[in-house]
Amino acid sequence: MTLIDGKLISKQVKEELKIEVDKIIAEGGKIPHLAAVLVGDNGASETYVASKIRSCEQIGFKSTLVRRDANATEEEVLEIIDELNKDEDIDGFIVQLPLPDHINVDKVIEAIDPKKDVDGFHPINIGRMAKGLPAYVSATPYGVLELMKRYDIETSGKHCVVVGRSQIVGLPMSILMQRNAYPGNCTVTLTHSRTKNLKEITLQADILVAALGKPEFITEDMVKEGAVVIDIGLTRVKDDSKKSGFALKGDVKFDEVSPKASFITPVPGGVGLMTVASLMHNTLLASKGEIY
Ligand code: GUN
Repeated sequence: MTLIDGKLISKQVKEELKIEVDKIIAEGGKIPHLAAVLVGDNGASETYVASKIRSCEQIGFKSTLVRRDANATEEEVLEIIDELNKDEDIDGFIVQLPLPDHINVDKVIEAIDPKKDVDGFHPINIGRMAKGLPAYVSATPYGVLELMKRYDIETSGKHCVVVGRSQIVGLPMSILMQRNAYPGNCTVTLTHSRTKNLKEITLQADILVAALGKPEFITEDMVKEGAVVIDIGLTRVKDDSKKSGFALKGDVKFDEVSPKASFITPVPGGVGLMTVASLMHNTLLASKGEIY
């Protein structure tokens, strides 16, 4: 079994980006600039956004954080987006999800200029990705592809089973894994909460991608010997023994599944760290105008 080290790879990716940014700056080019919009006081979102801002600082990007409290109206958020769309210094921006319930998330995402949508959530970017056209690919699935590449994981002709159909992870993951590209060329099955006989299907997976957000849902009896197991789950579970009061749990019961796997990502230390690295990658692409 090979443990896929997301900590190491995300560090490598960020170092590579830093080298590129240093060169751009030395040549007098534009410093990449990422903005993040954070509405409300969701603890996990605060942590994620802080990590994105910190990564910008480490790599040498400029960053801007726009914060509003949970009472912000949809109109106010749409106004912020309009300003960021127009701001020529900002290459890309994200609106951290989830948004408070009174704000229509689809309306907000569709208001983002696709050229600045470094999260790859806009329907235009999802459509372009599905067609295999240049597009911003959402950060978590992109991070998984990067891990597969850097560990030389074979994907062509393999059966990839994705568990979970979220718009930002499960769905794009399934589209990417069937593309005529590397990583890709898989036969893909996308499963979800209404899937019957889930275990029969996961047992056929050469590559199993767990992205349903249910801690330790995937157990040893659901995994084929030698499978590649990618755990995208990241749920905060109450744990009084921890200083923070919670522990992070993946969707895979790691201790019992790992002996069966050929490759496996741990939680924490796996896919999660790659999400931020991929967002930084997309921001650099935006700044260089390489997608649009
Ligand atoms: N919420 C959970 N993951 C993400 C992400 O990748 N981007 C944004 N904007 N919000 C999220």
